[in-house]
Amino acid sequence: MANCAYKRVMLKISGEALSGANGYGFDFDVVGRIAREVKTLVDMDVEVGLVVGGGNIWRGRSGEGMDRTTADHMGMLATCINALALQDALEGIGVHTRVQTAIEMKEIAEPFIRRRAVRHLEKGRVVIFGAGSGNPYFSTDTAAALRAAEIEADVILLAKNVDGVYDKDPNKFADAKKYDKLTYMEVIEQGLQVMDTTATTLCMDNNIPILVFGISEEGNIKKVMEGHKIGTIVSKK
Ligand code: GTP
Repeated sequence: MANCAYKRVMLKISGEALSGANGYGFDFDVVGRIAREVKTLVDMDVEVGLVVGGGNIWRGRSGEGMDRTTADHMGMLATCINALALQDALEGIGVHTRVQTAIEMKEIAEPFIRRRAVRHLEKGRVVIFGAGSGNPYFSTDTAAALRAAEIEADVILLAKNVDGVYDKDPNKFADAKKYDKLTYMEVIEQGLQVMDTTATTLCMDNNIPILVFGISEEGNIKKVMEGHKIGTIVSKK
C-alpha cells in the first residue's frame, strides 16, 4: 500500500475491451487477463469499483430506427452480462466480488445500495456496477463518474485500447500527438474523445481526476498505481 498513488479507484472498462480482436462477444483470454490486472490492484490493497460497458454485445446507437429508450435498456442488460462475466473471471482467481445493478434483478445480483457498496469495498471486495446508471440517454462513462462520486473514489481509471488521449485518432494518423495532461475544459472545448460531455462535466463538478491508459499492455494498471507517468490525466489544472 505504501507505494500506491490511490486508495479507492473506479475502474471503467469498455465492453469492446472484453471482445479482444473479435470485436463482438467475449475473448475469454482477454477477460482472464483483465481479471488478473484487477487482481493486482486488490493485491495492493486498493479498493476497486468497476463499471463495464456493453458495446461488445449491444450499443444503444446500433438500434437504428428503434426507440432510443428500448435500445438503451438493451445496452444496460448487456452491461449486466459483462458484469457477470467479469465476476466469474475474478472469482475464478480468488478475488471476492459483488455485482450490484442499477436495475433490480434480485435473482441475479444485488441491487445498487451505496452504503452497502462502500461496505463491500472496505472489506476488500471488488464491486462491479451493472446496468449503467439505470437511465436511458446516459452512457456507462456517466455511470462510472456517478458511481465514482458516490463511493468517493480518488480517481477514475479509464481503461482503453489506446494508451492515452491524442489530438486525433492515432490509428488513422501517424502524426497524432498524445497528451500527458489535460483539463476538463480542454477536453470539452476541443471535443477530445475521452468521455462524453455529461460524464466529463460530472467529473469536473466533483473534482474527480480521470486517468486514461491502455489496457492492452499487461502490467499497466500496476504502473498507474505506482504513480508512473503513463497515459493521460484529466483534472482541474
Ligand atoms: P456482509 O454483510 O458484509 O457479509 O456482505 P455479504 O454480501 O456477504 O452479505 P449477504 O449475506 O447479504 O450476502 C451474501 C451473498 O448473497 C453475497 O454473495 C451477495 O452478493 C448475495 N446477495 C445479497 N443480496 C442479494 C440480492 O438481492 N440478490 C442476489 N442475487 N444476491 C444477493
